[in-house]
Amino acid sequence: MSAPIDEVAAGVAAVAIAQDSPDAGGEQVVTPWDVAGGADGKIDYAKLVDDFGCSTIDDALIQRIEKATGCRAHPFLRRGMFFAHRELDQIVTAYEKGEKFYLYTGRGPSSEALHLGHLIPFHFTKWLQEAFKVPLVVQLTDDEKFLWKSLKLEDARRLARENAKDIIACGFDPRRTFIFSDVNYMCTPFYLNVLKIAKCVTFNAARGIFGFAGESNIGQIGFPPTQAAPAFPDCFPHLFGTDKKSLRCLIPCAIDQDPYFRMTRDAAPRIGGHKPALIESRFFPALKGESGKMSASDPSSAIYVTDTAKQIKDKVNKYAFSGGRLTVEEHRDKGGDLDVDISWKWLNFFMDDDEELKAIGDAYGSGAMLSGEIKKKLVECLTPMIVAHQEARARVSDAVVDQFFSTAPRDFPSMFGVLAGDAPAPPTGPVSFQGGEHLVASNAPAPRKEGGGAEGGADTAVQAGGGDAPLSKNALKKLQKEKEIAEKKAKKAAEKAAAKAQ
Ligand code: TYM
Repeated sequence: MSAPIDEVAAGVAAVAIAQDSPDAGGEQVVTPWDVAGGADGKIDYAKLVDDFGCSTIDDALIQRIEKATGCRAHPFLRRGMFFAHRELDQIVTAYEKGEKFYLYTGRGPSSEALHLGHLIPFHFTKWLQEAFKVPLVVQLTDDEKFLWKSLKLEDARRLARENAKDIIACGFDPRRTFIFSDVNYMCTPFYLNVLKIAKCVTFNAARGIFGFAGESNIGQIGFPPTQAAPAFPDCFPHLFGTDKKSLRCLIPCAIDQDPYFRMTRDAAPRIGGHKPALIESRFFPALKGESGKMSASDPSSAIYVTDTAKQIKDKVNKYAFSGGRLTVEEHRDKGGDLDVDISWKWLNFFMDDDEELKAIGDAYGSGAMLSGEIKKKLVECLTPMIVAHQEARARVSDAVVDQFFSTAPRDFPSMFGVLAGDAPAPPTGPVSFQGGEHLVASNAPAPRKEGGGAEGGADTAVQAGGGDAPLSKNALKKLQKEKEIAEKKAKKAAEKAAAKAQ
């Protein structure tokens, strides 16, 4: 049901907003909770950029990023998946001048398994972290999912920790990464910002930006400042100290999260902070076609990070929407339709090799390659990536999760620039969609013994300035052992899955 857009904020969000199920009579709907295409089922991204008031990323900006970081642009950037921004150019200018910034992204933990679309911002954020060598905060909005979904609070909190394992498996560096659940981390510095932002936003404005209606619960209406606050560095005194208010923030996400950050940027000058910059992606399309929706409850709509090699193969063969023609003769004659073919679209996301990708596009588009053959290419591309993700996730023990959740104070300067153990050369070669190299870093913060971890009901106020000791030799040995056992298990499971899929 679509809700009216409040006149006061109509200029801020001139898109149709849906509250429950998107049914906007052919109007496209993009909110943090609902995404639906227009009359043809597709998202009109040019319209979205126009309506939201963000900018598109041009080649000149990509080249500046490559020059500033010394890294070849990630395929998501050079192929236009991350296509829109807000003041990304200003972040690059500041970086060129030697100014520091941090990254902020997040996940709403509503399901056990992430689908491939959820991985997009995390793989890209990992690349940004490696390229710019900057710290990252990851917010897990267990509160948001409790308020919006029929999910018990304890389940949302458990899922936050489970989803964190998948995020960690993307390969983030624990020395520069802090992951937190809202429910556990709602400490004074964070809450101060939530309050200040909340005071800047009237109900009329919130209704205009988010489409809140009379039947919205008041927890939902009050939630947006919680997602806005981490864009301000003083929420994290254990990372940034208390005097780094001017530290800039860059937020990678899909464009559905833009409404939260339009509101944040409006509030920023009024609470004495920098407006956060954004780098925003298109949506990774659903398996059954671009107009469909990837859903946790419809296994045929998506590939999940938990799928076996056989499931990947079966799903792609059975459900991946094909741009192939009705008969082989017609296909050879006209060629496959690259505009609608999901195997082709997904390969564009996950096949790093530009030349191989082009060869596939040429062959399929000309009719030399058949639908079954491009699907086989996709299966060959996805399977090792997902098996590697599962192996990396199996290595993420509770102790590793605790490291990422640790609120032990960190040394500010040592979260920036080249750190001991970093790859010596900047990543100019192929990007990896297979994380995990950094899982246990010797100088990562030790987990707090009490309070800071997300497990169970640790509802403590997190204090900056606690005095956690670094990991002992024994603890490191234990972690290493856990990692080896998990690696062996994952390897066996992957071999079994691969054998089954043959
Ligand atoms: P959530 O859990 O819905 O999604 C997590 C991240 O994945 C992006 N995303 C997608 N990207 C590409 N293709 C898709 N099909 C697709 N589906 C989801 C989302 O844009 C998001 O970046 N409220 C947020 C959690 C959050 C957050 C943040 C996200 C809190 N703070 C800061 C980004 C930045 C949420 O529920 O995301």
